[in-house]
Amino acid sequence: MREKRSVTPSTIQRLAIDGGTPVRSRPFPTINDALGRRLGAEELTLLTEVIQSGQLNRNSGTKVAALERVWAEAFGVGRTVASTSGTAAIHAALGALPLTPGDEVITTPITDWGTVGPILAQGCIPVFADVDPRTYCLDPKQVERRVTGRTRAIIAVHLLGFPCDVDALLDVARRHDLFVIEDCAQAMLARWRGRLVGTMGDLGCFSLQQSKVITTGDGGITIANDENLAARAALFADKGWPRAVRQEGRREHRTFGLNYRMTELQGAVGLAQLAKAPSFVAHRRRVAGLVSERLRGVPGIITPPLSDEADPVYWFYLVTFDPAVLSVDQPTFIRTLRAEGIPANHVHSGEVLYLQELFRRKQVFGTSHYPFDYAGRRVDDVDYRRGLCPVAEELTDPSRSRSFLLPCNEGMSDDDAVEMADAVRKVAEHYARSPA
Ligand SMILES: Cc1ncc(COP(=O)(O)O)c(C=O)c1O
Repeated sequence: MREKRSVTPSTIQRLAIDGGTPVRSRPFPTINDALGRRLGAEELTLLTEVIQSGQLNRNSGTKVAALERVWAEAFGVGRTVASTSGTAAIHAALGALPLTPGDEVITTPITDWGTVGPILAQGCIPVFADVDPRTYCLDPKQVERRVTGRTRAIIAVHLLGFPCDVDALLDVARRHDLFVIEDCAQAMLARWRGRLVGTMGDLGCFSLQQSKVITTGDGGITIANDENLAARAALFADKGWPRAVRQEGRREHRTFGLNYRMTELQGAVGLAQLAKAPSFVAHRRRVAGLVSERLRGVPGIITPPLSDEADPVYWFYLVTFDPAVLSVDQPTFIRTLRAEGIPANHVHSGEVLYLQELFRRKQVFGTSHYPFDYAGRRVDDVDYRRGLCPVAEELTDPSRSRSFLLPCNEGMSDDDAVEMADAVRKVAEHYARSPA
């Protein structure tokens, strides 16, 4: 495809992939190194306090409890439960719900495994609904099409830092008596119609893994307004053991639970990071704004959707291109940008989740087909065939996708933003089709 060039060739710069000078020769700050993260004196001070206290476990320490309290204040919710990962946070949320094996939970096929693994761990069936091509988030109409008599919950994923249409999803949930869990792993502090994501559904879940808006290396937070749900999530994350209830040394395990306790070391880092979160998000929005401004008017390039309703946090910056204007495919665009020194990437795994081997085999627990053949269901009743969610399949198929991601993090400078945009412009100009 690289031969196809058009518009005023004299003004087009030679691509780095063809031997030209790359737009960028220095590495970018990334979320995996000190340049792209703001970890420093504040985290060290709190970590030192933990080490000096000798209390590394949350049940004897103070930092995780403080993190839960400050997080609840920041989000204006009743209670939060800290855990070991975003996956654990979602598992604790599902564990708090009155779910029975064989129940169905509707979610998106474009997400991390951490969204769906816990559904299966609870013996429930993940049901995949298609997404909105503009936002990559669940399409509420498609969600409603998937509701059956066995549906109990929706997990709405705010993907890539972009908020879902939560009101429309809540409306579906209300009409069908479903619980809503918001998966905010990629979208901490994003807002939908002015409200923080995570605070609108029954439960909200966050990840503090290395790549997320704030990090403790790994970690998770579940939030809820309803005291009963929050208490059940807390029990689920700590062996079903209500430690506040002292019974003369007797242990009481009230409900099923696992050990998903966050350590004091994570709690210390989390507290320091939480205080910085608003500045990180403001910075991400600034970087994204600069890229969008610089890309304005570049033929064939579509910047992330802006609306009065959605206030995204740009976990990554999503670029979409118009194949009617640009004669290029997604893998070539990404490869060409990488040669220009820009770490562009595809969106998620290049495949919707239900096409993964595990769903094709429908085997989660050893050689059994549980829960797919449980509660009167036949294994084939559960549909994970290609074609199930055509929009999501197209968006994640490199040969048909028209989008890719640029990095966005709190360590990026204005120059970084400008250079990313200039590289996209350079590549787009190279591949512009001749006017008809
Ligand atoms: C949308 C989404 N949900 C859940 C998770 C799971 O989080 P963790 O990796 O912390 O378990 C992730 C992590 O990448 C995610 O992006």
